[in-house]
Amino acid sequence: MSTEQSAPEVETPRSKAVFRWVLMIALVTFFAGLLFGYDQGVISGALKGISNSFKVGSFAQEVITSWVTLGALIAALVAGISADRFGRRPVLMAAGVLFIGGAIIQAVSPGVEVLAVGRLVTGFGVGFASVIAPLYAAEMAPQRIRGRIVSTYQLAITFGIFLAYIVGDVLSSADWRTMFLLAAVPGVILIIGVFIVPESSRWYVKVGRSKDARESLEKVTEPGDVDKELADVQAQVDAEAAEGEASWGEVFSPRVRKALIVGVGLAIFQQITGINAIIYYASKIFASAGLVSTQSQTTATLYCVGLTNVLATFIAVAYIDRFGRRPLLLMGLVGMFISLCAVGLGFATQSRLDSGAGASIVGIITMVGLVVFIASFAFSLGPVVWTIISEIYPARVRGKAVSFATAANWGAAFLVAQFFLTLTEGIGNSATFFLFAAMCVLGFIFVWRYVPETRGRSLEEIQEMWNKGGSIKSWDETAPRP
Ligand code: BGC
Repeated sequence: MSTEQSAPEVETPRSKAVFRWVLMIALVTFFAGLLFGYDQGVISGALKGISNSFKVGSFAQEVITSWVTLGALIAALVAGISADRFGRRPVLMAAGVLFIGGAIIQAVSPGVEVLAVGRLVTGFGVGFASVIAPLYAAEMAPQRIRGRIVSTYQLAITFGIFLAYIVGDVLSSADWRTMFLLAAVPGVILIIGVFIVPESSRWYVKVGRSKDARESLEKVTEPGDVDKELADVQAQVDAEAAEGEASWGEVFSPRVRKALIVGVGLAIFQQITGINAIIYYASKIFASAGLVSTQSQTTATLYCVGLTNVLATFIAVAYIDRFGRRPLLLMGLVGMFISLCAVGLGFATQSRLDSGAGASIVGIITMVGLVVFIASFAFSLGPVVWTIISEIYPARVRGKAVSFATAANWGAAFLVAQFFLTLTEGIGNSATFFLFAAMCVLGFIFVWRYVPETRGRSLEEIQEMWNKGGSIKSWDETAPRP
């Protein structure tokens, strides 16, 4: 096998064939994320039309909004087991089918009950995709661009949210059925893409199909690196197979616990620092900050939240493998903290100023604050959390552990979405934003103390790091940082 192509300093795969396969894998990951984002964002534009059509009150609206999250939570829990048993591709395929099925059920629903079922079905698709797409991407991506490929997934989520905001803006709210139906198109593309890409080589090794594993690996690896990669994966899987099939008990065992805490902690901090309160309720926040017309609220939401989210995610895609995960997370949390405090202060000032002038100052502060907040989230916690979750677990428990961390993420998202309005009514806007800011401080301490840098490490090396004690320092002991 030729080795002339393996130059470690080269950033992108050089052979065209490898590049094409990696691109296909990135595209599949992209469409899975796009659907995730679209189905999250679409409700903001559709809700008004739905409540007009079905004449439903706020409880039904809450159910329609939150059942996607609920479906995602349930599916996330079984996604890992299914992906370990059947492979990554069948589960991604199932996600595509659920996206299409959910879109059709929602579009034709004769009443709110069927619509809620459609939301739940879509949620199952979102849950499967949110666990398996980053996992598959991490397992298949060449190591030196792994972070970049996995953060493509986040880019796609933000793009999906932005697309949903645009569709909500272009169509009238009466066209809510079309808004839902449109999600079937990327669903079909996802299924076609999954047909084309190879199954995860790591999964093949795990189930003992080493010939298939080699074929799959050859597609995404420079020829000179295939043997070493395969040997690394095989050694890792052999060591783990000697201990038997991983149980749920093992996911919580002391051996995995540190990695589990890192993944679950990051998943929860990603949500309790307020991102989805802003994604779902941006218009309401802008309204209470003094933007009076519905048009100005939708425009502010579309650009300040939707577009900023997409653009800032590019920063992460570009720098995650260069700067590393920790610096991005820490810088992002500082930006989120400062901007949340600014929004909190803005609202505190507003309650003392009853004049229209006061309200417009608050409007400007809120707008700038939310732009900085979304940008800071989008280059840090947004993509980096999913990247780290997909790479820190031992292969044997990876499916289950990623599921668990993702379910924790959905659980936290559900709670924040469910209680944000109640919270603002109870303690006020200002205190709510200060509370989110306080969570950023805790998040900063958590990352500083517990989250190891995984940039430039193979999944097997990351495993070694946990085996050697799993402290952040243990990197320094095992090998110099690249
Ligand atoms: C989060 C979602 C959030 C999105 C916003 C993702 O990383 O998991 O809950 O809506 O980022 O871009």
